[in-house]
Amino acid sequence: MAFESKIKTIEWVNNASKMIDQTILPYEFKTVEVTTTEGMYFAIKDMIVRGAPAIGIAGAHGVALSALELKDKNLSYSEFISELEKKGEYLKSSRPTAVNLQWAVDKQLELAKKEEMPVGKLVDLLIQNAVKMENEDIEINKKMGDYGAEVVPKGATILTHCNAGALATVGYGTALGVIRSAYAKDNTIKVFADETRPRQQGARLTTWELTQDGIPTTLITDGMCSYFMSKGMINMVVVGADRIAANGDTANKIGTYTVAISAKYHNVPFYIAAPLSTIDISIKSGKEIPIEERSHEEVTHINGKRVCAEGVNIINPGFDVTPHELISGIITEKGILRPDFTESIRKAFGK
Ligand code: MRU
Repeated sequence: MAFESKIKTIEWVNNASKMIDQTILPYEFKTVEVTTTEGMYFAIKDMIVRGAPAIGIAGAHGVALSALELKDKNLSYSEFISELEKKGEYLKSSRPTAVNLQWAVDKQLELAKKEEMPVGKLVDLLIQNAVKMENEDIEINKKMGDYGAEVVPKGATILTHCNAGALATVGYGTALGVIRSAYAKDNTIKVFADETRPRQQGARLTTWELTQDGIPTTLITDGMCSYFMSKGMINMVVVGADRIAANGDTANKIGTYTVAISAKYHNVPFYIAAPLSTIDISIKSGKEIPIEERSHEEVTHINGKRVCAEGVNIINPGFDVTPHELISGIITEKGILRPDFTESIRKAFGK
């Protein structure tokens, strides 16, 4: 059963990509309209739109915007494709870890290359496909929610890290989609949300969207999870993913690995909720996942205010990789994949 979420994070409207500006939540709710390829590159890079499935759709919209930019340039079909490919590569370079971006841009480029046609017709087709992918994202999340809800114990307190919610997708969410579906069946479940330093997606975004839906949520700082697990106060962990390797190793927001280790130690089931588009079967293990290095200011400053001494060294990886041995199951739109993940992932891809 679906628990409706009113949030639509990204939407194609009048030849523009309209999105919620996530850099200013929860202080201010504002949408912005992105109308150029370059605008989309920076919307992704600067995290106006963020979360793996949402930046995938942003990539699909981005290719549609690129096509619109090229439409009136009097290009032949092959010239159009070659220019579109360059713009697609540019879009893909905006953020490296979430494979959904690459996946969605490549899907658009494959469609463009499938069959030669007049450029005007192709532009329309790319726009239609971007809208189709946008709608499918919500449907996929609801399916994941239904599968995931089946493994949530009655009255459970569920810990989540970062924001894998409606704001990280077109709507409904992956990990928070599971929580929404579980809450629709059992309104005694509760959520613990990790603050998620340095950018505080848990504090700023997860608490914002869950409290709007009336789902009881407790905010904790990142270092508190082991303490609450040791007290038996967390019954399950569910997080999203940015890229999953063919063996199940999973990249997600920095700090996820620590939560997974703690969950294993305390016998708390640890689940990933992610669509199949987040699984990169071209890489064997998590060692091959590129990890984004983000600006030092994210660590040195909170809300524009410096919180450490000048001259200190900073290192700021945006993601870490949770080894597959620590994962109880991967909740997808095709059901819950279980260990041995190499085998269950292979089967999910029909290989
Ligand atoms: O840097 P972000 O905010 O884009 O990172 C987001 C995450 O790590 C999410 O957990 C992940 O993308 C899954 S979103 C459904």
